[in-house]
Amino acid sequence: MTKTLQWTGFLSTLFLALLLPAYLVWLEPAQQEQSLEDYYTRAVIASTDMYAENCAVCHGAQGEGIGTNPALDSDAVRQMSPEDLEKTIARGRFGTAMAAWAVEEGGIFTTAQIHDLATFLQQANWEYVAARTDELGLTPPQVIALDVSTDTLNALSALPNGDLLGEGLQRYAENCAACHGGNASGTLIAPALDTPEVRALSPEEIAARIRDGVPGTLMAPWGDTLSEAQISALVETIIRWPEIMQSGVEFPEAPLADFAATPEMVAAGERLFSIACKSCHGVDGYGSPMAPALNNQIFLSQTPDAAIYQIIAAGVPGTMMPAWGIRLTDDEIRSLVAYLRSWEETAPSILPPIREP
Ligand code: HEC
Ligand code: HEC
Ligand code: HEC
Repeated sequence: MTKTLQWTGFLSTLFLALLLPAYLVWLEPAQQEQSLEDYYTRAVIASTDMYAENCAVCHGAQGEGIGTNPALDSDAVRQMSPEDLEKTIARGRFGTAMAAWAVEEGGIFTTAQIHDLATFLQQANWEYVAARTDELGLTPPQVIALDVSTDTLNALSALPNGDLLGEGLQRYAENCAACHGGNASGTLIAPALDTPEVRALSPEEIAARIRDGVPGTLMAPWGDTLSEAQISALVETIIRWPEIMQSGVEFPEAPLADFAATPEMVAAGERLFSIACKSCHGVDGYGSPMAPALNNQIFLSQTPDAAIYQIIAAGVPGTMMPAWGIRLTDDEIRSLVAYLRSWEETAPSILPPIREP
């Protein structure tokens, strides 16, 4: 078969995969079997499930991108050469949250699976992917985003250049508050921005930190996600924070911590674990080639809840362990801590998880 024919075949099976349930009602049993056995149909379904289980958590159920994780439903991806795309998935992108997925690189996918995934990404019908991801219960949780009230926006618009401040505060609540706190006074995982030291930086320096991030820390580069106008609005907002506070504006607040564990939290944590963590940490947290076991006595008996919380929220920079603080709410992370803790009584006493020196 020529390459073109293969691609046409792939396209028509995508179509088939979508309309398959409808077709099956019409077809004879023999034809049904033929359709079902079609290699490409299976490749589409298998790739969709691989995507839902491993990629949706960062790139979104519809490939729309989450936070600084880029959209895959993009012309950039559709126009990438298949070789480059396969290389990106196989080897990851060094120094970013994009892990290497090839078995040879310590990942979980064979060359054939990566080839299917790459073809899939360039041809995907994202509505179907979103529906399938939802059916599997794998649609990622909402990113923490705080709401800025209309009253606040009205109060801001009375200040000089107030519309710019309104824009900046909305972008802040959407993208930054999860780490830097609702009132910019800092959290467990990120420093305060409402300080004289930050205000002493030049606007261009602040803009550069937002645009380029701070390499090797949780501060990711926002230059591909936010426009220059939005970054300028954020800089203005950070520099004029005390003035904004003095004008009586109500800031959205991030909820506070509490380590109580109810059965409901444990159940919620179990669901979330199977969506966001199982692909690396294995079934019931027993580990996989991608990540160490969490379900073991030594780790659980030596790591306090607060430390587990911090690791989950902040990730482990320089490793494949993502920072979940930006994607999960405080309650969701707490429920994960409660679920991990619930293993402690029955956990096997195996060696502590392997770490790089
Ligand atoms: C922990 C989060 C995370 C997961 C899980 C993840 N990615 Fe990524 N991915 C990223 C980030 C971050 C980037 C951007 C890297 C960079 O800055 O170059 C990226 C980049 C990519 C790109 C390049 C996009 C472009 O426009 O250059 C592709 C393709 C991709 N990922 C595919 C996948 C596939 C397929 C999976 C599942 C097997 C996956 N990713 C899982 C975070 C993730
Ligand atoms: C995932 C958590 C996270 C998110 C989300 C995040 N930041 Fe940060 N940010 C950090 C951390 C951690 C640092 C400290 C980096 C370092 O050690 O220098 C930082 C540093 C900064 C600095 C430099 C402060 C200084 O004292 O030099 C600025 C400015 C900043 N962030 C602005 C933002 C803005 C604006 C947003 C939203 C668009 C944002 N951050 C989103 C974690 C985050
Ligand atoms: C892309 C793969 C990946 C995903 C997804 C992932 N982790 Fe991890 N995680 C890792 C790796 C790799 C490490 C080991 C980091 C190191 O070398 O210290 C780790 C470490 C950890 C640790 C610390 C273990 C220790 O011994 O210090 C905890 C706790 C943890 N992960 C929890 C989670 C939770 C909860 C989730 C889901 C919300 C999750 N991880 C999702 C890859 C992942």
